[in-house]
Amino acid sequence: MSRIRKAIFPVAGLGTRFLPATKSMPKEMLPIVDKPLIQYALEEADAAGIEQFIFVTGRGKSAIEDHFDHSLEVETLLRQRDQAGELENLRSIILTPGSISYTRQQEPLGLGHAVWCARHHIQNEPFAVLLADDFIHGGANCLQEMIEAYENRPGNMVAVMEVARENVSKYGIIDANGEEGNLVLAKGVVEKPHPDAAPSNLAVIGRYILEPGIFDVLSGQKKGASGEIQLTDAIAHMLPETPLHGVRFQGTRYDCGSKVGYLTANMAVGLSRRDLKDALAQNLAPLLKNM
Ligand code: UTP
Repeated sequence: MSRIRKAIFPVAGLGTRFLPATKSMPKEMLPIVDKPLIQYALEEADAAGIEQFIFVTGRGKSAIEDHFDHSLEVETLLRQRDQAGELENLRSIILTPGSISYTRQQEPLGLGHAVWCARHHIQNEPFAVLLADDFIHGGANCLQEMIEAYENRPGNMVAVMEVARENVSKYGIIDANGEEGNLVLAKGVVEKPHPDAAPSNLAVIGRYILEPGIFDVLSGQKKGASGEIQLTDAIAHMLPETPLHGVRFQGTRYDCGSKVGYLTANMAVGLSRRDLKDALAQNLAPLLKNM
């Protein structure tokens, strides 16, 4: 059984739903309170035991590379000002040299294509994929839950949660074959089905553990829903030889690719922080009352 040592972070999308904020700033750098989305995802992977972090970037995404690098200017200033806490906080972002690498997706042809672009960094071992805009807060570490489940159930694995029927066409949807504890056994998965045709309302969320055989499938894969090369289509193609399991994770997921999800995530994190919650609740109360 291979250990999950590597994670891919696809960050090459255009983030059109957040324009103009994302015109010159990557969507994945949007902050939840005071930390960018991508840092939460990286910290989740780091805490789950990932050792190599592979970013699939594109044009205009260099802010992500800079974020995970030293900023000598800021560090010197914080040292001169005796801001030890802030300095420590800033330095904690820096990973062991050589453990972070970047590859380019020259055109945003879809999530499946973005993952395929990282194939030479993965080679022949199972790996994780984390989408930073699926922000998971509270509960256990989602990727850790999946890695633990994977130890007994090799194959492809996805994080799943129930969504409202009318929203199934935004997700990959699981065709379930049964459940065991927090594990869903899948006999199929279909990308963005029409609500009337969806096999369930169990949606795939942006955390995956994938077998390396997926790269061969992605190599020859045609465009699917929304004209993009879809990762879920490749996972479906590997069934039934490569089993697929869904993990019902403990945390709460916020769709930070959407404005409402992003704003809600900021409120949820703000209200969970001891240094912010009282003042935030006080400011929000009249706003909500006057609606
Ligand atoms: P999304 O579809 O949510 O991101 O992809 P997007 O396309 O950037 O957003 P909109 O719809 O235009 O607003 C989920 C994740 O996959 C990455 C994105 O960067 C995001 O982190 N992605 C998506 C890629 O890396 N490449 C792609 O071709 C598509």
